[in-house]
Amino acid sequence: NTYDFGLVGLGVMGRNFILNVADNGFTAYGNDLDEEKVNALIEEGGDANKVNATSDVATFVQGLSTPRKIMLLVPAGKVVDIVIDGLLPHLDKGDIIIDGGNSFFTDTDRREAYLQEKGINFFGAGVSGGAKGARKGPSIMPGGSRDAYQHVKPIFEAVSAKYKGEPCVAYLGPKSAGNYVKMVHNGIEYGLMQLTSEIYDLLKKAGGLTNEELHETYASWNAGRLQSFLVEITSEIFEQKDDLGDGHLVDKILDKAKQKGTGKWTSQNAMDLGIPVPTIDVAVSMREISALKEERVKADEIYDRPTPETVVKGSLTAKAEQALYFAFIITYAQGMHQLADASKEYGYELELGEIAKIWRAGCIIRAALLADITEAFKANVGLQNLLLSPSFVDKVQETVGAARELVAYGATNGIPLPGLSNALTYFDAYTSSRLPLNLIQAQRDYFGSHTYERLDKKGIFHTEWDE
Ligand code: 6PG
Repeated sequence: NTYDFGLVGLGVMGRNFILNVADNGFTAYGNDLDEEKVNALIEEGGDANKVNATSDVATFVQGLSTPRKIMLLVPAGKVVDIVIDGLLPHLDKGDIIIDGGNSFFTDTDRREAYLQEKGINFFGAGVSGGAKGARKGPSIMPGGSRDAYQHVKPIFEAVSAKYKGEPCVAYLGPKSAGNYVKMVHNGIEYGLMQLTSEIYDLLKKAGGLTNEELHETYASWNAGRLQSFLVEITSEIFEQKDDLGDGHLVDKILDKAKQKGTGKWTSQNAMDLGIPVPTIDVAVSMREISALKEERVKADEIYDRPTPETVVKGSLTAKAEQALYFAFIITYAQGMHQLADASKEYGYELELGEIAKIWRAGCIIRAALLADITEAFKANVGLQNLLLSPSFVDKVQETVGAARELVAYGATNGIPLPGLSNALTYFDAYTSSRLPLNLIQAQRDYFGSHTYERLDKKGIFHTEWDE
């Protein structure tokens, strides 16, 4: 008896993913060093002919049909290398290892080259959707050898989330394309999360919305064009009562946000590529500022801050909806722009329309907007920036006014809206045919003879400014 699919790492994600594989008619075999996890899966799986598990690597590998398809759902970093080295002596040429974690893309390139020498195919496949997604249908972002993908495709298409019947998985490109796309997915995730949280702050401080009202507001947004997983769970968060005391849980949670690195990597790599993603950058910075809780408490005592002027709830929530929609568009635009550039830089051959398409369901950044983004990139394969798509002009034009008003309000009333204001600044700068950076060029040439180009003449110029 051999199993169709193998999975190493039977934590919550791994266990759920393997049960999902089995639900879809494939037999699956799990492996974990931890006997307790092995037994938990055997018990939950029920029929050992369909789902089974072992803590012994050799037994595990021998129990799989060839070419073997082995997915790893283990913590990113050293563990991935250790697991690979443990599997290697038991594998045959042509076998396939799929790393389903949030591995850094250059690690994936290194591992692919290492395994290629040994005749093993390696995939970096981002998996999004949390534990529930793994169980019921995640969005999967695989990159690696196109030929080898054919062996994995039927299983991934069966287990992935479906958007109107279409699977939320597609072969994305060679090498680390899958991990790179997942990294930028997470950067966008950071941006959208920052935006939903600062709009909450605004609604609370400027409009005095209660948690019940916040719940209703986000729920009503989720019924409209802002429909998205993050807006949906936000509305549910405001309903949650504190299980350890009175009131709502959200008010008891310490305001220090943790991070595991993918958002930061997105920003860092965007800097390396020279692609601006300021909404994502500031989302990372805000998590860092949030971590400085003790300093913030001290500084709050030292400095005066304006008392926010009350705004009528109805008009505030209407504007907030528009501004959030505007900033969501800008965040996706920045992420897609980064993907377009990375594709050229790293030879990923990414199709942005395909990426937006597999993000329409299953993943954390799924949103109604992604159907429009998919169409925009499908209609124009070479689209440089979402803001240049004719189908987005009206959406942006209609909502940017609200973003301006709220950013101005936030600045006057001392409510930080860094995601929204950076989205607006990005928009204003990106849509300016002339920026004052001519002055920067003049300064560079003045103090360092760095030269400049001219608007009216071709060539490279230098001026002796202080003569
Ligand atoms: C997903 C998520 C997931 C990520 C968490 C936590 O797509 O399912 O992106 O992969 O690990 O969102 O990320 P942080 O701990 O960095 O917030």
